Order: sequence, then structure tokens, then C-alpha cells
Amino acid sequence: MRTRSAIFYGPNQPISVEDVELQGPKTGEVLVRVAATGVCHSDYHAVDGHINARLSPTVMGHEASGIVEEIGPGVTAFAPGDHVVFTIRPMCGKCKYCSTGRWNLCDGIQAKRGHMVDGTTRFKKLDGTVLYMSHALAAFSQHTVVAEWNLVKVRNDVPIERLASLGCAVVTGVGAVVNTAQVKAGSAVAVWGCGGVGLNVIQGAAIAGATKIIAIDIAESKLTFAKQFGATDTVDASKNDPVEAVMDLTGGGADYTFEVIGNPSTLRQAFDATCPGGTACMVGVPPSGGEVSVPMELLFRDRRLIGSSAGTGSPRVDFPWFIEMYRQGRLKLDELQSRFRPLDEINEAFEDMLSGEVARTIVRP
Ligand code: APR
Ligand code: ZN
Repeated sequence: MRTRSAIFYGPNQPISVEDVELQGPKTGEVLVRVAATGVCHSDYHAVDGHINARLSPTVMGHEASGIVEEIGPGVTAFAPGDHVVFTIRPMCGKCKYCSTGRWNLCDGIQAKRGHMVDGTTRFKKLDGTVLYMSHALAAFSQHTVVAEWNLVKVRNDVPIERLASLGCAVVTGVGAVVNTAQVKAGSAVAVWGCGGVGLNVIQGAAIAGATKIIAIDIAESKLTFAKQFGATDTVDASKNDPVEAVMDLTGGGADYTFEVIGNPSTLRQAFDATCPGGTACMVGVPPSGGEVSVPMELLFRDRRLIGSSAGTGSPRVDFPWFIEMYRQGRLKLDELQSRFRPLDEINEAFEDMLSGEVARTIVRP
């Protein structure tokens, strides 16, 4: 079938929105009409060269929700009309990691980057050139074909476009707090970076019962969003030393700190701002080859530096409770979607993210 998709051709080039050819679902695959796709900094990491450019040309996008249109042979868990949310990692459901609730580490499905597990993709340009698929999802597209292990079926009485960010920003942010760091009620938490993911760390900390939630950013507009998502204090790191500020506000360091930018320098700040016995949790995607060093007094102070990718946990367990929290007014999804744009405005949507004007821009393909 013909569909329309946003294509990455290489670093520092505008994204191109084009009509493309999409092959139908093969065994274990599902054709989805995409309802909404969040614009995430992970998409942009390839564009600005923060990480080594992925394969190109690639249909971009990974944070999305949609409605099943067709199922391939062997699919039993989904039917046309089902509402689904994409997950950024496949879940085989059988490996050691899936079996112990660490779906994000699943090693049971070996697919080449940008490809489906059979080593091919479902997208082609109209001239026949193969298009790779970001995260095997290719979600900046009107339609896409996704493996069933990358989908979670959700209740259909919640507007499907509101659920677009569950699979990346929400699970990564809230999951880092609740599943990975396991923040305790009454804790002091500090969060570096208040973008779409950082705001979810902040609301995750509020859900977990943290009583001090310090938001740190260099953009004043982001600190305003942070308060809306539950920050009790804010620090403008363009004007103040964030480590000193956290030390002052907590009387000696935060119990948990989260770095949600992906920079070695801010990760070191987050580590330095923990109290004895405290935990620094890395959430931002590091630059390719990035390293950080920490003082070896780590030992004497019982401090921990941990990584959290995609929020640990399991989407089939976590998405339903996120949705329930949203229905109860305890998880902010509407507020996260500060701007909607059509697919043709994908480049403007990235500009929204970089300008700091929005919590998240959502593309409606
Ligand atoms: N100090 C404090 N805040 C900073 C700094 C800094 N030195 N540099 C950037 N920031 C802020 C930006 O102002 C912005 O608000 O970090 C925030 C990043 O937010 P987004 O660009 O919206 O990125 P987001 O989608 O939230 O992703 C953040 O998490 O999952 C990863 O890949 C993702 O690495 C990315 C990170
Ligand atoms: Zn993402």
C-alpha cells in the first residue's frame, strides 16, 4: 500500500516527508494506522550527530500509539480495531530478562538495527530503494508494520492519541523512578533536564511520594512545565551552580538524582549532588563513546550510580497502570502534549523541542 512517512537521510539534513510503499504484515506482524507520534530527543540524537548516525534512509519515529488495521499470519493477541501502544524494545517473553521483569534488557530477539527480525524491512521508496525502520517501528508514518512483540493492547475507551508517549517518555521517566531507582516516599529527588522525559521523571517522583522534587534546567520555560508536573523547587542552571543549589535545598544532598539529558558533565553533577547512601540514576542517552568518572569515595559514602534504559519493568504491566493513573487524574498526559502538528511539519516539530517552548510536540500522521 501507499503511505506517507518521515525519512532521515543523514546527520544535519532536514527530514523529508514522502509517499512510500509499505508491504503488508508477515507472520507475527501487525499493520497499524498510527494515531499520534511523540517527538523525542532520541530521534534528534541521530540528526544532530550526538550518536553515530543510524542507517539511512530510515523512516524515523518510535513513540506512538495507533489502531490495528490488519494482522499477519499467526497473530492471535491482536485484532483489527484494537488500540495499541508501541514499545521501544521487543519482548520475547521467554528469556532470562523478560522472565524477571526486565523486558528492556530482552536478548531473545536478534534483529539487525533498522530491520525486522527476518532481516528485511517493510518500507521502500517509490523508486524501490529500501527504507530502514527506526527501532523496527517507523512511527513517523501514516501506517506502519510492527512485530506483535513491540505492541501492547490497551483499553479502547481512552482517546488513543493521548497514549502516544507511554512507550517512550512516560515509561522511561516514570519507570526510572518507580522500577529502576525505586524512590521511597518522603525522599528528596533532583532531576537534570525537564524535557519530555525529565517531566515524566518529575511526575514519577511525585507519584512515588517524594516530598522534595528539585527540577534543574537551563531553559526558564521548562522550569515552568516542571512545576506543573510536580516539582517543589526549580534551579536555573544557566544562572546558578545546580550542585550547590541541590546541596542547599536538601541540607546535604538528594536521596536520588536523575540525569535526563545525556551529557557526561551533567551526569557528574547529578552524582555529586547525592547525599551519602544516595543514588544517581542515568536516564539521558549518552553520546557515542561517552565516559564519566566518579570519585572512588563512592565506597565510603555507599553511593550508587545506576543506569536506567526504557524504565526497566514490563510494558504489559506498566502501561495499564499508567492509563489507570491518567484516568484518575494522577498521571499528566494531556499536559505533556503541548502542541500537535501534521506529519509534514516534522522539521518544525524538532524546532519546537529545541526551542524549549513545548513539553512534547505530538505529530498526528
Ligand atoms: N543543564 C540542565 N539542563 C539542560 C542542560 C544542562 N547543561 N542541557 C540541556 N538541558 C535541558 C534542555 O533545556 C531540555 O529541557 O535538557 C532538556 C532535554 O529535553 P528534550 O530535548 O525534550 O529531550 P527528551 O526527549 O526529554 O530526552 C532527554 O532522555 O531518553 C533520553 O534520548 C533522550 O537523551 C535524551 C534525554
Ligand atoms: Zn524516545
